[in-house]
Amino acid sequence: MELNRLRACHMERPMGIAPEEVTLSYAIEGAEGAWQTAARILLSLDETEAAPLYDTGWVPCAHDERTGRVTEGIDNLAWRVPAPLPPRARVYWKAWARTDAGEEASSEWAWFETAKAAGEPWQAAWITSPLGRDVHPVFHTTFNVRGPLRAARMYCLGLGVYEALLDGEKLGDEVLLPGLHTYNHGLHYQTFALDAHEGANELCFLMGEGWYMGRYGLTASAPRYGDAYALIAEIHLLYQDGTEEILGTDEGWQVCPGPVLADSIYDGETFDARIPLHGACRPALRMDQPPQAPLMARLSPPIRVQERLKPTLCSAEKGILDFGQNMAGWVSFRCRAKAGARIRLTFGEILRDGELYRQNLRTAKAEFVYIANGGETVVRPHFTYYGFRYMRVEGWDGPLDPADFEGCVIHSQLERTGWLETSHEGLNRLFANQWWSQKCNFLDVPTDCPQRDERMGWTGDIQLFSQTALFNADCYAFLRKFLRDLWNDQQELNGCVPCVTPMAGYRVRGVAAWGDAAAIVPWQMYLMTGDSSILAAQLDSMTAWVDYIRRETERDQTGDLWTKTPQLGDWLALDGNSVYGGTDRGLIATAYYYRSASITARSAAIVGRPDIAKRYGELADRIREAFRREYVTPTGRLAVSTQTAYALALEWELLPEGARERARAELRRLVVEAGSRLNTGFVGTMALMDALAEGGSLELAYTLLLRREYPGWLYEIDQGATTIWERWNSIEPDGSMNRDGMNSLNHYAYGSVASWMYRVMGGLSPMPEAPGWRGIRIAPRPDRRIRRCAASVRTHGGPCACRWEWEGDTLHVNVTVPFGSVAYLTLPGRTETLRLTHGDYAYSVAVPKPAAPGLEQPWKDALAGKETRAVLEKHFPRALRGVAFQYEMYTLEQLTQSPFAELTAEQVRALEQALREAQDRRNP
Ligand code: BGC
Repeated sequence: MELNRLRACHMERPMGIAPEEVTLSYAIEGAEGAWQTAARILLSLDETEAAPLYDTGWVPCAHDERTGRVTEGIDNLAWRVPAPLPPRARVYWKAWARTDAGEEASSEWAWFETAKAAGEPWQAAWITSPLGRDVHPVFHTTFNVRGPLRAARMYCLGLGVYEALLDGEKLGDEVLLPGLHTYNHGLHYQTFALDAHEGANELCFLMGEGWYMGRYGLTASAPRYGDAYALIAEIHLLYQDGTEEILGTDEGWQVCPGPVLADSIYDGETFDARIPLHGACRPALRMDQPPQAPLMARLSPPIRVQERLKPTLCSAEKGILDFGQNMAGWVSFRCRAKAGARIRLTFGEILRDGELYRQNLRTAKAEFVYIANGGETVVRPHFTYYGFRYMRVEGWDGPLDPADFEGCVIHSQLERTGWLETSHEGLNRLFANQWWSQKCNFLDVPTDCPQRDERMGWTGDIQLFSQTALFNADCYAFLRKFLRDLWNDQQELNGCVPCVTPMAGYRVRGVAAWGDAAAIVPWQMYLMTGDSSILAAQLDSMTAWVDYIRRETERDQTGDLWTKTPQLGDWLALDGNSVYGGTDRGLIATAYYYRSASITARSAAIVGRPDIAKRYGELADRIREAFRREYVTPTGRLAVSTQTAYALALEWELLPEGARERARAELRRLVVEAGSRLNTGFVGTMALMDALAEGGSLELAYTLLLRREYPGWLYEIDQGATTIWERWNSIEPDGSMNRDGMNSLNHYAYGSVASWMYRVMGGLSPMPEAPGWRGIRIAPRPDRRIRRCAASVRTHGGPCACRWEWEGDTLHVNVTVPFGSVAYLTLPGRTETLRLTHGDYAYSVAVPKPAAPGLEQPWKDALAGKETRAVLEKHFPRALRGVAFQYEMYTLEQLTQSPFAELTAEQVRALEQALREAQDRRNP
């Protein structure tokens, strides 16, 4: 047995987190037993147990037998340190566990480092550059270390973006610091360990405009957050003799013009390597008007170069390289060019007619211009990033050698936790694509896309993708920071959640499905990680959002319906004739209003606020009643007959019990009659897949998943996609690019189908009664078109996995239940549920073949099949010769029902029977 993956605030060895709120977690893997029966956590300032800061001692642990939830003792999913911790300290910690099999183990020492205490004064001043905002400054200082050091730390923040160097070496491996946050509400500073030596040490800060000062945000006007470069840094030298020396930024620092001539998140960077880092200096200026918001310890996990991709040469003549994968980040290259040579790199996601296609970047210039200084060196940009697969090189002297280039994939730290693999190559690619789109869009903020002039934290996109994101990776820390930004912005909009957060000047009021990120994202985080502190932290944000909607409905006098606010509807759906799709926007908004109100009520109950739970629970009931009165007919149909409307109503249990069967049948009919095609947008798609699977139309859901023609997920795979597209038709069937301007090839919203793949195909879901994979529902729902599937999630107790494979009509299922969990397994074709605890299990079940398709099949398919065509020839010859309006119908059923088919009910029955028999003969 092993105790591993020790995390503080869900991060590995974080530097500089707030000492006031530290949550620890660890995993227990490889145990013989099934449950932790006792545990101990110890925190110390060194790696010994001699003088602990805090020691829980051995604590007995208990759990609920039914759900697996920990009821007593230490929950290794999330344990809040109850004692205050010292600021500016490296805190070591260690965990021990005993199990019900009598094992005992302890972890290795782990550590995290605390930042300054909240409100602790700074012994440093905000300084700025005397060179004006058009010159990118480099700030310098030299400090003297007078004797042997025990440690040296720097607490600092540079605005817009910065890189710090000690004696010419970049400090740390993070890039694009301090990232993007609501700078007007709190300024997140960083903590660095300084490897300073005795004598003089040269420290400098290279500065760029970044999100803070530069062009960023759709139509936002500058300045977004600030208009002047600003720097604050406090250096603590801790000597071995026990003394401490503190130095801070002040007018004694120097400033010179730096080699970065221009930087912009959208446009790229111009770097003149002939300009030294240390040129003619002028004294820095103390800021008269420093940034106003309080400094606070950082929240976000590090942004780093996470992977490196080698390109191939695509066209020597045009100087185009292919990195083989749509990615976000930048390119580094070995440069041997002559002094003054100007190398220009431009980026694009796709080639058209052999040229780099860049129209979909809109106004983003996405380029890197490098002016060489004659030395041989490895070059990269500093203060920008690109979304691209291809790159054009101009101004290169001599032939291009791809070996000189490297694609640096940049994203926030994400610890991978979810995997899925099938026998179907297209699905595997789809699964890989959504993970790529997550990586490309998790860059300090969950963005819509990484390439064009947006790259913004659209709240709707992450709302829809959050569950998938949390399956794929532990992104608790990342999303926690985002939700803090969201709540900050919300307070500026009187409780309304913006469409984009951080708003960065783009103050667009949130609408249904976007604003609901306030409730849905924390709820998904709780379900997937079991750490309820996020619900406590966000409860005010949830209630403020729901209250905002309630005020809208009161103002508009629409009762409990949310119908009069302008909405984005079912964004990019294919029904209707605009980007808003064809579903009544008030229906979508009211459904989401219900969803957020009920999540708020449940969250309040979980964090011990029964008063709030009651209030929002009652509101949710009223909204559901209003929904039913307005949209559900007495016989159980919806007044709005679209795939999205039925899917949402079914998924969120908005329908009265008696109406569900009817609604399921209607939904199925709508999909089949559309040609077994979906026409849903951002909002409807996920709900559609779940509503079909749960509503007895599993095979139809698989048909949508496996559809190779437009619209469908595999359509884009066949078009060569390596990330998820923004639109179902980002590339049209004729190969042309969608002409609507808003057309990214790297948007994760439709990638949320991966959560369906994990849950329905793979069979793994966390149970809300015992979140964080303590209570697990395992219910694989295979389809015969996929021969094998293996899904797994790395949990607090090791892997939770389900693998299945067909052998004839027998399905072999292997299940792994993690330590410290209870799983309820339902095998395909069986009704009973098995309760399982930690261990590996194997089953083989005979699954009777489903009835061969009858009249519900497309008539074109029936004509294309040899056996079925023979049946039609005999029983329905007119189908071969042509029934009037045949091409306006889709299924055989529609065709046989046509008056022009001239078939009697008897003949239709005979046809159906013959079809089934013929197909059964073919597939014994
Ligand atoms: C973004 C989306 C976003 C939408 C809403 C787009 O420009 O890329 O993903 O949710 O606008 O209007």
